[in-house]
Amino acid sequence: VIALAVGGGVLWLWNDAKVSTVGTADFRNELAVPSLAPSHVDKKDGTRVFDLRMQQGGKEFTPGRTTPTWGFNGDYLGPTLRARRGEKVAVRVRNGLDEASTVHWHGMHLPARMDGGPHQMIGPGRERTPRWSVDQPAATLWYHPHPHGKTERHVQRGLAGMFLVDDDRSERLALPKTYGVDDLPVIVQDVRFDGAAFDHGHKMMRSAGFLGDRTMVNGTLDPYQVVRDERVRLRLLNASTARTYAFGFSNGRRFALVGTDGGLLERPAAMERIQLSPGERAEVVVRMVPGERAVLRSHPQDNYGSGWQTRFNGGDDSFDVLQFRAAKRLRPSPAVPAALGEPELPEAGAAVRSRHFELGEGGINGRAMAMDRVDETVTRGTTETWTVRNNHGMPHNFHVHDVQFRVVEVDGRTPPPELRGRKDTVFVPSGTTLKMVLRFDGGPEFADPGVPFMYHCHLLYHEDGGMMGQFVVVDKGQRARTPAGTDSGD
Ligand code: C2O
Ligand code: CU
Repeated sequence: VIALAVGGGVLWLWNDAKVSTVGTADFRNELAVPSLAPSHVDKKDGTRVFDLRMQQGGKEFTPGRTTPTWGFNGDYLGPTLRARRGEKVAVRVRNGLDEASTVHWHGMHLPARMDGGPHQMIGPGRERTPRWSVDQPAATLWYHPHPHGKTERHVQRGLAGMFLVDDDRSERLALPKTYGVDDLPVIVQDVRFDGAAFDHGHKMMRSAGFLGDRTMVNGTLDPYQVVRDERVRLRLLNASTARTYAFGFSNGRRFALVGTDGGLLERPAAMERIQLSPGERAEVVVRMVPGERAVLRSHPQDNYGSGWQTRFNGGDDSFDVLQFRAAKRLRPSPAVPAALGEPELPEAGAAVRSRHFELGEGGINGRAMAMDRVDETVTRGTTETWTVRNNHGMPHNFHVHDVQFRVVEVDGRTPPPELRGRKDTVFVPSGTTLKMVLRFDGGPEFADPGVPFMYHCHLLYHEDGGMMGQFVVVDKGQRARTPAGTDSGD
């Protein structure tokens, strides 16, 4: 019915009919919440140290059927890392797999050699310990492998986790903040099974990459979560490799969007839907009704997503994602504050240079990613405007390492509320041009002419296929150097 109202036409009716049988979950499993990663503080210099180990495992997503998986410190996904702004952190990353990989800190502002991109591979049995100072606002970030040409496969086997940053502002604000109780990580992935094993074949829309036929949250199929608080904060992460979702509640419940990829908004935005393409995050606060069962769903892509996915996926585009079972009596929660503070966005007026990126045939600006080619050289401490155009008959998105950018225009117009905050990944529908402002700040350790950061489409099959480029941050007068071959860790 919703589909008819929005789209009109026979196609949408047909989709709606299909939707009632596809992607419907029976919510029999309690939602797993990733544990908070233990850490210790180094007595010498105060660094908070975490341990991650990539390993093979097996997990019973369905009782009695063990699916071969990969995970960090466990069978599937990884623990939630958590640190405060101003802290020095180090993560000892060990590779217990049979093949080389690397771990990238998606959304984190850190020097290129710590970024875990494809130049910082870790061989089997080897390890690497990136260290940096957390110098960015509170946010929901995440980590995942980034081996060139193999990222889709490594992520969909289970290598992904969240990295939460806290600061004075996030601790002071009256937002739900008890992890696992009224502040929930919601890591959404689409999957398909062939018996017990994952089926990772590209079946539906081959050119998009892998599209599954059901979803899981935090590695739980058919998940439900019992809620005992009046308000719940959901940290939504689209950790799928290709699928874009439009999250909303089955009952049309509105929620407050309070944060985007890189931190809290200036003020909450009341929304009914939030669209997230692969790699994007959103923090939303939803108010529960005592005793209710509310379902977080992904609705057909009916906003600026142009319906592409719905049409080409044969209509399998609507999913029941997570059921909330509200207790009969809920603990009262404070109202969402009307103002959330200064979002720390770059200023368009400060831009000293502009660049253009075409996403299309052959990659970005007609070129496929090459490990030994630096595509762009950026000066540390400067602000730039980048325009990104999707010149292709399919959706892409655009992710930039190191920075949180500000989207200033979507096809010449003011962006919608969900694109007004700090972003590191943004959906770019076919035919659309986005304009963004980026500030490349950081201390002297951020200038590194020989180690590039990446920008790329976060539909991982596209990234693996070469829709990626490299930029270096240098100090004035420095020239980019050809990136050294990948080394393999200690
Ligand atoms: Cu989430 Cu370059 O990656
Ligand atoms: Cu793409």
